[in-house]
Amino acid sequence: MEIKSKKLVTLDEYIIQSQNKFPGATGELSQLLRDIGLAAKIISREVNKAGITNILGVHGSTNVHGESVKRLDIFADQQLISALDRSLITCMVISEENDGIVRLNSEGGKYIVYLDPLDGSSNIDVNVSVGSIFSIYMRQPRYDQNLVEEDSLQPGSRQVAAGYVLYGSSTILAYTTGLGVSCFTLDPSIGEFVLSNSGFKIPEKGTIYSINEGSYNSWSQGLKKYIKYCQEDDPETGRPYTARYIGSMVADIHRTLVKGGIFIYPSSSRYPNGKLRLMYECNPLSFIMEQAGGTAIDGKNRIMDIRPEAIHQRVPIYIGSPENVKMARSFLEKYE
Ligand code: AHG
Ligand code: MN
Ligand code: MN
Ligand code: MN
Repeated sequence: MEIKSKKLVTLDEYIIQSQNKFPGATGELSQLLRDIGLAAKIISREVNKAGITNILGVHGSTNVHGESVKRLDIFADQQLISALDRSLITCMVISEENDGIVRLNSEGGKYIVYLDPLDGSSNIDVNVSVGSIFSIYMRQPRYDQNLVEEDSLQPGSRQVAAGYVLYGSSTILAYTTGLGVSCFTLDPSIGEFVLSNSGFKIPEKGTIYSINEGSYNSWSQGLKKYIKYCQEDDPETGRPYTARYIGSMVADIHRTLVKGGIFIYPSSSRYPNGKLRLMYECNPLSFIMEQAGGTAIDGKNRIMDIRPEAIHQRVPIYIGSPENVKMARSFLEKYE
C-alpha cells in the first residue's frame, strides 16, 4: 500500500528552488536567507526556554534609544550578526542594539542587512510573543569607504528582501524577495522551517484595529475621529471593530496579515515622529505587507518611498488592509 505523505518543503529547499527561477543567480542571497534561518532557530530555542536559563531580564545597559536592553536582545543580536559574518556576503549590519554601523566583510560583501534582533522585548518576561525583523539591501557595486553612509540610507523601495520571525505558540518565519510572501513554521522535531503558506494575501478589509490607546490624549483630531469611527455601531460595515494590541509589532503585524484590519503607531507627545524605526521595523514589514496586497503609509506618504536621513530614524505608521488604511488616511486628511 503506497503511503501518501504531504511533501514537506523546508526553508532551505524553498530558497534554492526560488533561486533557480533567477538564471544567473549567484546563490549569495539564498545563503544570506539560510544564515538568518539558522540564527532564528537558535534564538527560538533560547526564547522558548528563557524561563529556565537565566537569560530573562535586563542586560543592565541602555541602547541608543534610551531603552533598557534585555539579555535576549543582546543574545539575538549576537546570533544574527555572527551568522551573517560567517558567510562573508554581508558588508555591514545596522541593528537596533548597535549605535553605529557594524562593518563585516567590507571588501567582498555585497549586502547590507538591517536588524531588529528582538522585537517586543518588553514582553519577554511576561511570556508574550516576540519577534526578529530583517531588511536586506544591495550596496553600490564598487566598494568605496566614503560611500558607506550613503549605501546604508536607501529608501525601503530598494530592499531586495525582508522578513520576520515570530516566536509565538509556534515559531514562524515569513519573507519576501519581491515575488510574494512565503511563510514557514518551525518543526522542532526535525529542526527545520517547513513551508506553510507560499502566497500570503491580506484580506482587502478587516474589522480589527490595533493601537496603544494609552496615548489617546496626544493623537491628532483626525486620528481621534478615525478611532471613534471604528467604535461606532454599524453592523453593515462590521462596526464596532475589535481592538487588539499585543505590543510586539511583529505579532500585531502577523495577526493583521492573517485576519486583516489596521495597525497604527502614530506620532505622540512622547514620540513626535512615532516610536517605530523606519529602517528595521517599518520598511521590512511594509515590504511584506505590500507584497501581501496591503498598504503602509506614515499618515500621508508610502513608507517605502521615505528617503531615510538616519539609520535609527523613527516614523509614524498606518499599515494593513488597503480599505482600512484608505479610510484612516481620509480622516487624517479631513481633520488635519
Ligand atoms: P523593540 O522591542 O524592538 O524595541 O520594539 C518594541 C516596539 C514594537 O514591537 C511595538 O509595536 C511597540 O514597541 C510597542 O510600543 P508601546 O509599548 O509604546 O505601545
Ligand atoms: Mn528595543
Ligand atoms: Mn522592534
Ligand atoms: Mn528590538
